[in-house]
Amino acid sequence: MCAQCHAGYGWKDENFDFTNQENIDCLVCHDRTRTYYKTPNTKGSEACAIMFENKPLIDYVKVAQSVGLPGRENCGSCHFNGGGGDGVKHGDLDSSLIEPGKQLDVHMDAKGLNFACTKCHISDKHIVSGSRYDMVAKDTVGTGKPGERRDVATCESCHGTRPHKLQSFATMKLNDHTDRIACQTCHIPTIARGGVATMVDWDWRTAGRTKNGVGFHEENYTQRNGEKRATFKSIKGNFTYNEDFKPDYMWFNGRMDYTTIHTRFNSKVQPVPINAVRGEATDSGARIWPFKVMHTVMPYDVKNETLVYTHLWGEDKAAFWGNYNFKEAVAKGMQDAKLPYSGELGFIPTVSYWPITHMVAPKTAALTCDNCHAANGRLQKLAGVYMPGGVTGPFSRYVDILGILMVLAGIGGVAAHGGLRLLGGYWRGRS
Ligand code: HEC
Ligand code: HEC
Ligand code: HEC
Ligand code: HEC
Ligand code: HEC
Ligand code: HEC
Ligand code: HEC
Repeated sequence: MCAQCHAGYGWKDENFDFTNQENIDCLVCHDRTRTYYKTPNTKGSEACAIMFENKPLIDYVKVAQSVGLPGRENCGSCHFNGGGGDGVKHGDLDSSLIEPGKQLDVHMDAKGLNFACTKCHISDKHIVSGSRYDMVAKDTVGTGKPGERRDVATCESCHGTRPHKLQSFATMKLNDHTDRIACQTCHIPTIARGGVATMVDWDWRTAGRTKNGVGFHEENYTQRNGEKRATFKSIKGNFTYNEDFKPDYMWFNGRMDYTTIHTRFNSKVQPVPINAVRGEATDSGARIWPFKVMHTVMPYDVKNETLVYTHLWGEDKAAFWGNYNFKEAVAKGMQDAKLPYSGELGFIPTVSYWPITHMVAPKTAALTCDNCHAANGRLQKLAGVYMPGGVTGPFSRYVDILGILMVLAGIGGVAAHGGLRLLGGYWRGRS
């Protein structure tokens, strides 16, 4: 079931050979008819058969004759739908990016630049650049010569580190921010803007609730494009969505600390971070980045204080998607993976952080000075920054005046600096 998107042909169980590159499905990326899809390698429990009933049959001859380089819909068939549906995981990757307008994404704008994913995620011998496990939170190199730098997918690799034109005093100040503030922070003012909602909360505790022993769905959320979204599924539990909302901001140096299946955590410290974002103001390699924050209540081993594997999909009796019994499904999952499991099952709140980097808005929609440099500005909660103009409290008025003076002085400084450079040029030109 998971192998529809996770490598390979014929991955049915724990005996799959990950070293055999012939097990890679080529058509999922190279079919240009938009009709090809991967199917699960096993049928799953009867309770789940309904999940694939409505898919049209694939015309393999037509597909084989329509091979081309991958478009947005190819990459998106997996990346838009991870987590079990459109836009569920990311908040900046969903089906609205198949044919977006400029307001949604200046680069992928179908009538404009019309970038494929691979325009930024360049690849060499099928090694795709860009990652969230090993991100470039701050690119200090900028653009390279053509053909160079096949290793990154950063904004700077096309725009350089000083991308703003010196049109006015205010825009002059923008380039001074790029060392501490990620491009994405100013250029992606809100996320999930394309009419497709993203999930922000998922509670597994209610999973398994059935009607007379039969699984059911509830669809009580209508997203902006008019489609209804499931707010409850027997197989998964309860969901909460959000759309067109401000991201959270954090210092980020490209590293995250992962809570994996092997990590023992302190269950009293909640929520358990699945991927704690590293970086702070004093860290010169860190910048302020936007994130989608996702809350999940998920099963865990109470005694060992670890996450657990739940055996979801299968034709056997223990599969949760069929028997709706967490105790059995987790015991089987842990046993298959040969991991220690105490048998004491509980549920724990967790939090994960999804870096935001797609859905770059037109420049006219970028954050302006007062989005940050004002009381209640966007970075108000962020540790380690003194925000000129952003102070609240008993002395705020005085500190604020100082702050505003600083902002003005900053602008003045640039103006004076720019002026001198102009003059310098003038004098050099004369002599
Ligand atoms: C519709 C496609 C799709 C299906 C089906 C799918 N995944 Fe994924 N999964 C992805 C993609 C794509 C990623 C990489 C990150 C991204 O872009 O979302 C991913 C990443 C992951 C990760 C890394 C952590 C994370 O959340 O990014 C785990 C763990 C994972 N998947 C587990 C599973 C399991 C278990 C199943 C089956 C129950 C499954 N996936 C089914 C598409 C899918
Ligand atoms: C994850 C998506 C993906 C998968 C899966 C994939 N490819 Fe590709 N493939 C690409 C991309 C992207 C390019 C373009 C590379 C570039 O231009 O640098 C490419 C390029 C190619 C090219 C070169 C085409 C040209 O015009 O230069 C061939 C041949 C190719 N792939 C064959 C395969 C085969 C065979 C498989 C299965 C074993 C496969 N691909 C699986 C994404 C994929
Ligand atoms: C304008 C350039 C650009 C385009 C177009 C683009 N991306 Fe990205 N993407 C980035 C950058 C920059 C990152 C951050 C990568 C890093 O720091 O390593 C990123 C990160 C990612 C990540 C991993 C991090 C995350 O967000 O979870 C995935 C997956 C991804 N992109 C998929 C896609 C897909 C699929 C498409 C096409 C629908 C696409 N990208 C189009 C620039 C782009
Ligand atoms: C068959 C499903 C599938 C297709 C199609 C696909 N990917 Fe992926 N991709 C994945 C999965 C699953 C992962 C995560 C692997 C993992 O985390 O273990 C991934 C990882 C990535 C990453 C790294 C993400 C990270 O966080 O490190 C990038 C970038 C990416 N893919 C871009 C692309 C691009 C660009 C295309 C289209 C040329 C594409 N993918 C097509 C399934 C797919
Ligand atoms: C593959 C190269 C490439 C990458 C990577 C890239 N851009 Fe662009 N970007 C362009 C091109 C080309 C244009 C159109 C010409 C221009 O305005 O410079 C553009 C235009 C823009 C514009 C102006 C939009 C408008 O209103 O006209 C902004 C803002 C922008 N990019 C921000 C970003 C950000 C933020 C990132 C990283 C997430 C990024 N770009 C990554 C190539 C790229
Ligand atoms: C502090 C906020 C901020 C940061 C950080 C920022 N930008 Fe901008 N950017 C803006 C604003 C505001 C504009 C619109 C300027 C105007 O009025 O023309 C803009 C305009 C642009 C344009 C259009 C070119 C132009 O001058 O008209 C591009 C391209 C761009 N930014 C790319 C980037 C890239 C790449 C980064 C990261 C290296 C980045 N920006 C970081 C706020 C920011
Ligand atoms: C995304 C939020 C954000 C936006 C938008 C923003 N700033 Fe800032 N600004 C900051 C942060 C954060 C700092 C402190 C950086 C540090 O700790 O080094 C800062 C510092 C400053 C400083 C003092 C340090 C210096 O570089 O001189 C001035 C002056 C300033 N900003 C002016 C401006 C102006 C003018 C604009 C509009 C063109 C603007 N800022 C837009 C977040 C922002």
